[in-house]
Parts: sequence; structure tokens; C-alpha cells
Amino acid sequence: MTSQEKLRILLVKSGGEAAIDEWRSHLAHFAATESPEAAGLDVRWWNDASVPPEDVAYALVWQPEPGRLAALPNLRLILSTAAGADHITTDPTWPRHVPLIRAVTPEAAQRMGEYVCMASLALLRDLKRSVRQQAERRWNSFETERSATDTCIGILGLGTMGMRAAEMVRGLGFRTIGWSRSRKALDGIACYAGDVELQGFLAQCDILVCLLPATSETDAILSAEHLALLPRGAALVHVGRSSHLRFDDLRAALDNGYLSGAFVDVFEQEPLPQDHPAWTHEKIIVTPHNAAVASRRMRAKFFAAQIAAFERGESPVGIYNAVRGY
Ligand code: NDP
Ligand code: OXD
Repeated sequence: MTSQEKLRILLVKSGGEAAIDEWRSHLAHFAATESPEAAGLDVRWWNDASVPPEDVAYALVWQPEPGRLAALPNLRLILSTAAGADHITTDPTWPRHVPLIRAVTPEAAQRMGEYVCMASLALLRDLKRSVRQQAERRWNSFETERSATDTCIGILGLGTMGMRAAEMVRGLGFRTIGWSRSRKALDGIACYAGDVELQGFLAQCDILVCLLPATSETDAILSAEHLALLPRGAALVHVGRSSHLRFDDLRAALDNGYLSGAFVDVFEQEPLPQDHPAWTHEKIIVTPHNAAVASRRMRAKFFAAQIAAFERGESPVGIYNAVRGY
């Protein structure tokens, strides 16, 4: 084996060993059809003991065990199968000199937009109440207070996910506003930026959507202090990261009637432990961190394109910026 051949090994930890054949065939397909520089990858399962660590060039991972990436001395690219990179960067030993690429596919953004539309409409129309009534075979017609046109949705984070979600809820007729670090200019969406504008932003949000990355600056952004700045009766759609939310503060605000409902997709411990209070809370809908899982096929297309760009000496898309923390 030549040294060039050796450095074509791509180790995969995403979807389990059973998913390897699917990754292999999708990556080969996109290398053959649109990303020729990604051809010839030797796709191997993460725990394949026959792979010499020094021969690994690429790692495509979800929650790699701490220390494992650092033990791959010739690693050239880290590919995160998620849009967030915190499942890698919380490992204090992750090799910071290796470019880390986040999966930022249009398909995931579309799916996130769909989730945010679904959750916002379910909160607006009190879907949980109808589901409860159905379980009790109780026909009790009720009116909901608002329509989309007199409801403001505020999106924390106007990146790939947040922008698509904002466009889509706006399309449903919601008044839509957004908040990010740097100011954006989006058609029909009032854009707020930075800490100084957070309070004024929150004060308008009948439905608050969190689509921020996990960083030291966004830690606990959904704590009692900020939830209290929302209008009385507001609801939350939490699709960011568990580090953003103080769950007990959310529960208290729901229990005392200040907030009206919540969708929560991300938790500190996943799978959610059986005894977690979110499971049975009458105002919370739990989803299993599946707001925007892109298909393996579309992630393979994206990763083949980024490996090809890297091999051509170009800058891949979706590079994690260690200074910003996302
Ligand atoms: P991006 O990096 O594209 O966007 C992040 C956005 O957050 C940017 O608009 C950024 O501002 C803003 N932001 C970051 N830090 C701050 C801050 N301190 N103050 C204000 N705004 C800030 O990420 P994505 O859109 O791809 O993903 C965002 C997050 O969504 C992920 O990190 C993850 O947490 C979550 N996610 C959840 C999924 C799920 O299934 N539940 C699926 C995918 C993502 P600026 O534009 O100025 O840089
Ligand atoms: C995430 C993802 O970052 O699923 O949560 O992409």
C-alpha cells in the first residue's frame, strides 16, 4: 500500500456499524457523480480493530469517545454528522489543529423549518389539548386565542437553521423576528443583534424558538431571568442545546402559568431518563432530538463535496470557528 492509499481511510461513528455499508455506497456514488476528489475512500467502522490509527485521514463522527480523535495522528479532517459541534468540542483533547466541518445541509435546514412550523402551529392551536381530549373521548370544542397573523415568533440564532425556519414561519403568516450576534438583513423579518438588543427582542416573542449553538456566551440563555422577559402566555420551542435551558426554570414558569407551553427536542441526558419530569408534564411536548436529522444520503453528498474541496486545496463549507465557538 502506498502512503497515499493509506491516507484514504475514513472512520465512521454515526448510525452504528450497521450503517457503514450505506455510508460507503452513498459516498462512492457522490464521488463518482459530482465530487471526484473524494473517490477511493476506504470507509471503515469506528471500532474496526484492523485499522491502524496512523492510516486514518478522515473521521465522520457523532459523540466520539473523549481521547479517540486525538489518538489519530494523521487525521486531516473531522466531519461532524450534526450541525452542532459541541458533541466533539466538549472533549478537551479534541485535535484543534484539524479542521472540523459541521453538517450544514439544505435538507436539515428544511427539516428544521418544518419542525418549527409544526411546533408553532401546535402551540398556537393547543394541539396538546385536543390530543388529551381524544384520549378521554371528550368532544369539547374550544377556540384558540390567536391567529398566526397576530402572533410574533422570535428566533434566537439566524444561521443556516434559524434563517430557514424564519422564512418558513413567516410564510405561514406569523410576524417573525430574529436575533443573532451580527445583524442580518432579511426580507420581512425584523433583525436584532447582540446582548444590548436581547431584552427588546424577547419582550415581543409570543413564541420563542432557540436555534443557537452551545457556547460559553449562550449558556443558560433560557433561564428564569430571560424567560420572565417574554410576554405572559408565551411559549417555547427549544431545538438548540440543553446547555441553553435551565429546565427547572422552564417547568416553574409553566407551572405558575406564566408560560403556556413548550416543545423540547434536546436534553442534557439523551435518551431522556425514564424519571425525567418532561415526559409527563401536561404543557410540554418532548421530541427525541430529531428536529432536523438529515438523511444519510444528503449528509454523504455534503461530506463528499467537502472532502473533495479540501483535496483540491479549497476551503470546505461549514468549518467550525474555534474563536467564536461555533
Ligand atoms: P450557524 O452557525 O449557522 O448559526 C448560529 C447562529 O447563532 C448565528 O446566527 C449566530 O450569529 C448565532 N449566535 C451564536 N452565538 C451567538 C450569541 N452569543 N449571541 C447571538 N447570536 C449568536 O448554526 P446552525 O444554524 O447550523 O445551527 C444552530 C444550532 O442549532 C446548532 O448549533 C445546534 O445547537 C442546533 N441544531 C439542533 C438540531 C436539532 O435537531 N435539535 C439540528 C441542527 C442544529 P451570527 O450569524 O452573527 O454568527
Ligand atoms: C444537531 C443535529 O446539531 O442534529 O443537533 O444536526
